[in-house]
Formats: sequence, C-alpha cells, structure tokens
Amino acid sequence: MSTLQIDAQGRLRHLLTIADLRRDLLENILDTAESFLPEDGGNARKVPLLRGLTVFNLFFEDSTRTRTTFELAAKQLSADVINMDVAHSSRSKGEDDLDTLYTLQAMGADIFAIRHPENGASERFARHAAADVAIINAGDGSHAHPTQALLDVFTIRRHRPDFAALRVAIVGDVRHSRVAHSTIQALRMLGTRDIRLVGPRSFLPENAPFDDVTLHTDTATALAGADVVMGLRIQCERIVGDALAGVDDYHADYGLTPANLAHASPSALIMHPGPINRGVEITAEVAYGRQSVILEQVRNGIAVRMAVMAMIAGNRR
Ligand code: CP
Repeated sequence: MSTLQIDAQGRLRHLLTIADLRRDLLENILDTAESFLPEDGGNARKVPLLRGLTVFNLFFEDSTRTRTTFELAAKQLSADVINMDVAHSSRSKGEDDLDTLYTLQAMGADIFAIRHPENGASERFARHAAADVAIINAGDGSHAHPTQALLDVFTIRRHRPDFAALRVAIVGDVRHSRVAHSTIQALRMLGTRDIRLVGPRSFLPENAPFDDVTLHTDTATALAGADVVMGLRIQCERIVGDALAGVDDYHADYGLTPANLAHASPSALIMHPGPINRGVEITAEVAYGRQSVILEQVRNGIAVRMAVMAMIAGNRR
C-alpha cells in the first residue's frame, strides 16, 4: 500500500495520521519505542541514529509536552534541533506558512514536527515538502495528533497488553479533540472494540466514528467497569462562545473525580493528554493519584517520538 505517509515499500515516509497506518507498522513503532527505554525504568538512551540530520520544531500553536518531547527525542537521537519561535518569526510580516517551510528547507531541514490550528495542515505541508524532507504531524486543528495516540497506546500496552479485552471510556470534549480522534483509531487498530465516548451532547460527535464505538451522556453508565478512563480538556480555542459556562455542573457531571471514577474498575488506568485544567475535567487528587499514568504518558512521549523519527530517517537512508 502506498499513501502520502507510506512509501512504495510500505514504510513510514511521513507521519500525518493514524488512519491509514497498518497494525504491523503501528506495533513496529511501539516496539521500537520500547527498545529505547532501559529496563530500569530510566530515561531513553542516547543513540546516534539521527547524527547529521536537522529537526525543526515548527509550532503555529502553543505546546508544552509535544514540542519539548520532540526536542528531547531528537537530541537523544543525536540530531541538531531548531525550535522555531513562530510568534516572533516573519509570519508577523505576512509570510505564508508554506514560504516558511521552503525557507527552512533551504537551511537544510530534514524532519519537521509541525503543529498547526488548521485541520489537514500537516498533509498540506507534506504535499509541498521537498522529496528528502519528512513531515510529522504534531497536532493539526481538531483533526489528528498521531504521536499522542501512539504514546497513549504505548502507555496502555505497558500496563494492559490485551487490547481486545479493554473497556475504554473517553470523557469530555471529544468533538473538538484531535487526541480522541487519533487515539480511538489507534485503539481500534490494536483490537479494542469497547470504546465509550462520554460528555454533554455538544461535546460528542454527531455520530459515532465507528459502528462499535458508543456515545453516552451519562457518566455512570459509560464508566461502568472501564479499564481505562481518559479525560479530555475542553478545547476552548476551537469553540465559539463561553465554553466554560456552567463549569461547576460540568465538573460534577463529567469531571474525573473520585465520585465519578467509583463507577470504573477499581484498578482503572487514569489518563489525560494534558494540559489538565484542575477543577474542570479532572481534580489534582486524581491527576496525581495512585491510578494515574498521566506523567508516564508524558515521559513515554520521548521514546515514541524517537521511534517515529528513527524509523522515518532509517527508511530514507
Ligand atoms: N498533549 C499535548 O499535545 O500537549 P501540549 O499541547 O502541551 O503539547
């Protein structure tokens, strides 16, 4: 199979979406990420796989976790890394984002990690990138966030390797969440079929994205027996109007609180892509509690992003 992100030999060329990855390719990324983590649970080892290559972080939207872990991952792979300060770049003088791409390519960029508010922006960049340049989608609008999905399933796999047996509840602003869209695709690719999306009607998609994914407005029903509960931030930046009106009721009804989580499995993994908003979709007690793997997700993001960049670079050499 050949698509924009998969080359004629079936290898990773860019990473734009989970949607048309094959299961074996997705598992290969997870296995490669695993190989970067030492058995003592420490940080990923430094390796020379990207020596001589330059990675540009090109973020047209704010980020803490993704941008920083791409930087750390590239440095662990021995690449040179440039973090573009887009807010203070010549974008303010009217430069088109593709002209920014061409300009940075002329400086010798090999891999771009790109975050952009426009749905499909990473594919647009990939279509215009030079033949020897790779684009990695670091989140485009509400469309996709494939490396977040990969680190989510990587984190789940380390605790609950049987994806077919999993009951997963994704709670909150699913409609506007690129993380939800990509993570649902990754979970299904690995065999999970019991995926429950829960939130107020305005935060749920019009229709379930797959026949076997269920929509719920009642948290108790949706969380019943769940093995994984993933909270989502309200994406205020993608919502017209006051998205936080009635926030106390929202927190009571849909927040990851001890009361709501009492419906889930007592050993459920508590996940959140971050950033968290305390008192809105989660409490600090839950976010940093015994069942939470939220900070593991952050740390695993380094190994997963190393794996994606190492595979793309290896395929090009
Ligand atoms: N999860 C995530 O994308 O976080 P950042 O916005 O901090 O990168």
